[in-house]
Amino acid sequence: MKIKLLIATLLLGTSAVFAQVSKPIEMPYVDYPIAKGDHDEVAQQYCLICHSFGYILNQGQKSRPYWTGTVSKMVNEFKAPIPKEDQQTIINYLVKHYGYESTSGH
Ligand code: HEC
Repeated sequence: MKIKLLIATLLLGTSAVFAQVSKPIEMPYVDYPIAKGDHDEVAQQYCLICHSFGYILNQGQKSRPYWTGTVSKMVNEFKAPIPKEDQQTIINYLVKHYGYESTSGH
């Protein structure tokens, strides 16, 4: 009898702890609808590690050299862990949906 009571107390104790951590935590979440296709999932996988897509799209339509430079900057300066072939995929995606083909940088 005594043992059963002890177990019941332990279980109650544990559930009280769980109740504390499972409180809903509200986080502001800003959803940016981004263009689908052309491997948008690769851009999402790597570019959302540090900041939202809003940060990226705020720049407006940019040239290929701009996006190439920006992706290199994220990798070289901020140490974004993006493999070379995925960088190219992301650049192509950004130029197609959020930029234009051009050889002069803007
Ligand atoms: C390792 C973290 C990290 C990752 C991953 C990352 N960024 Fe950034 N990004 C930053 C930081 C930090 C800044 C702010 C730089 C500043 O204020 O000068 C920034 C700023 C930017 C800006 C604003 C313009 C600028 O040049 O500062 C753009 C555009 C941008 N990132 C695009 C991207 C894209 C596209 C990707 C995916 C290829 C990406 N970022 C992935 C850290 C990251």
